Parts: sequence; structure tokens; C-alpha cells
Amino acid sequence: MLTLMLASMAFAADPAAGKVLYSASCTACHGTTGNGKGPAAIALKPKPSDFTVATWWVGRTDEQLATAIRAGRPGTSMAPFTELTDPEMADLVAYLRTFAVP
Ligand code: HEC
Repeated sequence: MLTLMLASMAFAADPAAGKVLYSASCTACHGTTGNGKGPAAIALKPKPSDFTVATWWVGRTDEQLATAIRAGRPGTSMAPFTELTDPEMADLVAYLRTFAVP
């Protein structure tokens, strides 16, 4: 299932569509620029990571990101996002990658 999704990421992932999903569901905590400083983040412990830092991305695969988003992060306020379809997840992860400073 995931492998199939990753294949579709390579060919059809649409970061612009991912941005729409991110804006609706993720900016409150992760911030519009992905720096982890969304309006809700101030109250969170641990705080969301800064996705604009290149080192955060080292060794992280699309598969790991998709799994973390689907499963959430126990012990943090990162809830599971189980309702996203595989193509939506591919779009979302493609958009997350645009935060990484090359
Ligand atoms: C209620 C606040 C909140 C919302 C909403 C939220 N997150 Fe998170 N997220 C967190 C926190 C806190 C963490 C844990 C710290 C970290 O790893 O950044 C986290 C972790 C993550 C991680 C890192 C997982 C890893 O590899 O360790 C990713 C990727 C992520 N979130 C993506 C998203 C996406 C995409 C959305 C929207 C669909 C979203 N988050 C919505 C708070 C939130």
C-alpha cells in the first residue's frame, strides 16, 4: 500500500494540493512557513520541529513522514491523521519537502 503510494509520489505528487491540506490541518501548530511556530505551538510541549532546518530532513524518507503523519506521535500533541488518502498524503509530504532549505 505504502509502496504504491510512494510510486505515485514520484510521478504525481502535487505540492500545491498538499499546501491546501497543510493550510487546513497543520499550520496551527507547524506554522505557515513550517518553522514550528504556529499560533497554537506556544502552548505545546514538546514544540513542533522546525521543518525549515536542513538537518531535520537528514535521513528522513517520504515513507517515514507519511507513517508519522498517519500514526501521530505518541506523547506529543501530534494526533493521527488517518483520514488522508494515499494521494493526499503524497501531496502533503511533497509540500512538506518544500520547507527544507536546500
Ligand atoms: C496540535 C498541533 C499539531 C497539529 C495540528 C499537527 N502537528 Fe505535526 N507535530 C506536532 C508536534 C508537537 C510534533 C512533535 C514534535 C516534532 O517531531 O516536530 C509533530 C510532529 C510532526 C512531524 C514529525 C514526525 C517525525 O518524523 O518525527 C511531522 C512530519 C508532522 N508533525 C506533520 C504534520 C502534518 C502534515 C500535520 C497536518 C496534517 C500536522 N503535523 C498537524 C504538532 C501538531
